[in-house]
Amino acid sequence: MEKNVTDCLERGFEMLQDRRQLLGKPPTITEQDRQRIAMQLELAAEPWSAVHQSLIEYPEVIQALDDLWPQVIPYLIKGNEVSPIHHIPYVVQFMARIGLAEVTPLELKRGVLAALMHDIGIGDCALPKISEASIQRAEPAEKERLRRDGIASRREHMKLGVEIGRKLLSDYRRQHPQFLSDEDLEVILEIIGSHDFSKIPLMEDHVDRKWLLRSDRQDWLKQCHWEADALWMLTPAGIQVDLEREREENTPENRRAKFMFNLGLHRQIINLYAEAYSPAEMQEFGFRDGLLYRSATGYSLAKRLKQQSIPENTQDNTK
Ligand SMILES: [Fe+2]
Ligand SMILES: [Fe+2]
Repeated sequence: MEKNVTDCLERGFEMLQDRRQLLGKPPTITEQDRQRIAMQLELAAEPWSAVHQSLIEYPEVIQALDDLWPQVIPYLIKGNEVSPIHHIPYVVQFMARIGLAEVTPLELKRGVLAALMHDIGIGDCALPKISEASIQRAEPAEKERLRRDGIASRREHMKLGVEIGRKLLSDYRRQHPQFLSDEDLEVILEIIGSHDFSKIPLMEDHVDRKWLLRSDRQDWLKQCHWEADALWMLTPAGIQVDLEREREENTPENRRAKFMFNLGLHRQIINLYAEAYSPAEMQEFGFRDGLLYRSATGYSLAKRLKQQSIPENTQDNTK
């Protein structure tokens, strides 16, 4: 895998240059850019090794991830100013952990491939990514515009992700027809194309059920993927990215505060669900501890990450 990763770096830098040109920014790739990418790839090593360990009984899935990762990297380099490269192996890692316990092997394969590709469209977005946090903090006059743009850019990265994902996965399917079926492809693309729908109500001022998952088995794999994607925000690596983005110092207090803020978002979205669904329906969903986690594995991973960031002797003010 290592050699392929090096080979695909230059392709990624070319794509990043194209992006900058398109956005009217100085396109030159600087030493600082190269260092940032190298650092993000280094930070990807740990979750990748966890993925390899978790999926040891599924060598053909590991093989597919290893084959496709170098093809995904250029797109992630193109989008790395919006979302860091190592976000992806973290989501794959969590999807593998959750999937092993919560879904069938067929769904596990689909889930990890969706995780690998879910944000592949970010680098092609013309619209800037706007976080839920910045919308919530904005002045009322600015809020409306941010909200509109935030939703549009979320939708754009999912739509573009489906286009790129379809191309890469169809090529892979042609080479490995036994491994991927048409249905696999459609399920994976469906996850890529809708994975951030659940975040949209956090940006809107009302809750529309059309963005929310259903409580039945049909949406269970999407739910597991959502949990895997959300867990990233609770990892030390994800928190560090947030602190850097907001130019906050990386101190233990700031890390704790950021963790609590992000966990708060995972609670807030469920409060929104409760506006759209009856208590009986909420019961059916079975959100654990009022957080977005419904799977036992996703919830226990969230708890473990909390333990890491907020040791038990400090006050619990999550509720
Ligand atoms: Fe996304
Ligand atoms: Fe993501």
